Amino acid sequence: MADTMLNLDTISTLYRAHIAHLSQRYGQTLTALGYAALVLDAGTLQPKSRFDDQDWPFRRAPGFAHWLPLVAPGSFVVVVPGERPLLAWHQPDSFWEGPPTPERTDFAAEMEVKPFATLGQVRDRVPLGSVAVIAETAQRAHDLVGHGVCNPSELVAALDELRVHKTAYEVACLTEANGRAAAGHDAARQAFAAGGMSELQIHLRYLHATAQDDPETPYKNIVALGPHAATLHHIAYGKSDPGRQAESLLLDAGATCLGYHADITRTWTRGSGAALDTFAQLVTAVDRVQLQLCAQIALGVPYETLHDSAHFNIGCVLKEAGLVHGGPDELVSKDITFAFFPHGLGHALGLQTHDVGCAKIRPRPDNPYLRNTRLIDAGQVFTIEPGLYFIDGLLRPLRQGPHSRLVNWPLVDQLAPFGGIRIEDDVVVCGGAQGHLNLTRTVMPQGGGAA
Ligand code: GLY
Ligand code: MN
Ligand code: MN
Repeated sequence: MADTMLNLDTISTLYRAHIAHLSQRYGQTLTALGYAALVLDAGTLQPKSRFDDQDWPFRRAPGFAHWLPLVAPGSFVVVVPGERPLLAWHQPDSFWEGPPTPERTDFAAEMEVKPFATLGQVRDRVPLGSVAVIAETAQRAHDLVGHGVCNPSELVAALDELRVHKTAYEVACLTEANGRAAAGHDAARQAFAAGGMSELQIHLRYLHATAQDDPETPYKNIVALGPHAATLHHIAYGKSDPGRQAESLLLDAGATCLGYHADITRTWTRGSGAALDTFAQLVTAVDRVQLQLCAQIALGVPYETLHDSAHFNIGCVLKEAGLVHGGPDELVSKDITFAFFPHGLGHALGLQTHDVGCAKIRPRPDNPYLRNTRLIDAGQVFTIEPGLYFIDGLLRPLRQGPHSRLVNWPLVDQLAPFGGIRIEDDVVVCGGAQGHLNLTRTVMPQGGGAA
């Protein structure tokens, strides 16, 4: 089980400062845009299907989670400039289900708390006048505040912006989430090294080690043995003895702390053989590239520059491994690196795994899947996750196209059974000359490699 490393006294102090910061910044934003109040809905339980009576596991809305780590469907926060925030805490009178125990309850000291069973009991707590409601649907917004405007785009953009620069409290939560995920990666790596484990069994070991139920993970664990790693988000776990597929494992799995997400990927190998040794060298090379890219993090640098640098470096790795011919610039310009590394280098991270606020500008058309186009700035938290994959659907057109001669296809065919490689860390950008802090390597120094 994951031991918590959270210092409870420290986190309470940081949380107090976080709420003071949010009160000030949200207040300024609302006033600037002419709103008297903001209602942030936590969300409601959603039926899985109209044909039965089951609900999806509840996910609180990130705007609500920005204020407090409470899992309580039907609740909402009311923010009025210059006033103490109000938590309207839905506590239905039900003998069928009870709410989960809150991970922490110190939020109650930082806001007014008003428990309620029916909306009529709290309707008078929302001011009259111009009220904005952030809610899943206009119907829900109307149910909460008959006179409110639902998800006004200018305000939504401004609130997203308030989530880009993390407070010290948020960084502490993200740090702890990384510590929890590291325990899972360690357990999964050991299970894989022992051999004979299916993807499902590795997934279950991970859940056990991180003390997470499956719906509590920040995103569905990606557990990919052998060729399955060529599917970037492989979640259809194999359930039986993986046999020869079990020589490589790509594990992309996280954990949460008080609503904040960790997002970590490692790739490991086990066993021996000429092709596996070559693949293992590629894992080491991608790990080296990942660290080089982290070292390029600096204030004012466009994140897209790091992404471009990743393509250049992956070109060098492909060439050194003998997988391709030609210089890295040519490999990038002819989209050959794209065929091996098709996703973006990373994305903002916070209350959402793919967090908001860092992709307001579109990437260049040749970087279609890049989710971070910001200038790097202190307080941002993002992932750095280069990869190198053998994806048949991308390599086939390359093999049949005009640049086919630049690829060593016999070697590609030898390595394709290992699927692919991704190494992903979470980093926070520091101010001044401090550069960045790698939240993942702090708790899990080893990158990809032999399990
Ligand atoms: N785990 C999803 C991602 O890395 O973006
Ligand atoms: Mn990621
Ligand atoms: Mn990931």
